[in-house]
Amino acid sequence: KYEKVWLVFGIGCLFVFLTIVGVSAFAEGNQPPSCLTTIDPEKVDQTPPFNKPGLVKTGDNEYQLNIVASAFAYTPNQVEIPKGAKVTINVTSKDVIHGFEVVGTNINMMVEPGYVNSFTKTFDKTGEYTILCNEYCGAGHHMMTARIKVV
Ligand code: CUA
Repeated sequence: KYEKVWLVFGIGCLFVFLTIVGVSAFAEGNQPPSCLTTIDPEKVDQTPPFNKPGLVKTGDNEYQLNIVASAFAYTPNQVEIPKGAKVTINVTSKDVIHGFEVVGTNINMMVEPGYVNSFTKTFDKTGEYTILCNEYCGAGHHMMTARIKVV
């Protein structure tokens, strides 16, 4: 009699685990942390906010930094951010896949044509940060950099 109870309990547990694994895999597969928004790569220049790339103040100490990547540069390629600002960086590409790594931070995104990738970070320390393309994108790949200045 007790064996039957345990058997049912065991099978029940198995189903619960499989369901959790299945649901989380499905949810993550469908909605990765990046690639949330799609954009027409040929109309990046006309699509807000990328028609006016750069830093935009969105709230008290909160900013949006919209950056367009194209072979072989970022637009804008130099940005000044006030110290302590919480910045949501949105990047997209006009042509091929680029990288977006901010050296010395945990910001490291892929920049894909057709998608907007985002990362939010608070810049607490003053200094200069280099943005690098870490995805091979063509002959000028090694020259593709930009700079963030936290002042
Ligand atoms: Cu852009 Cu490598």
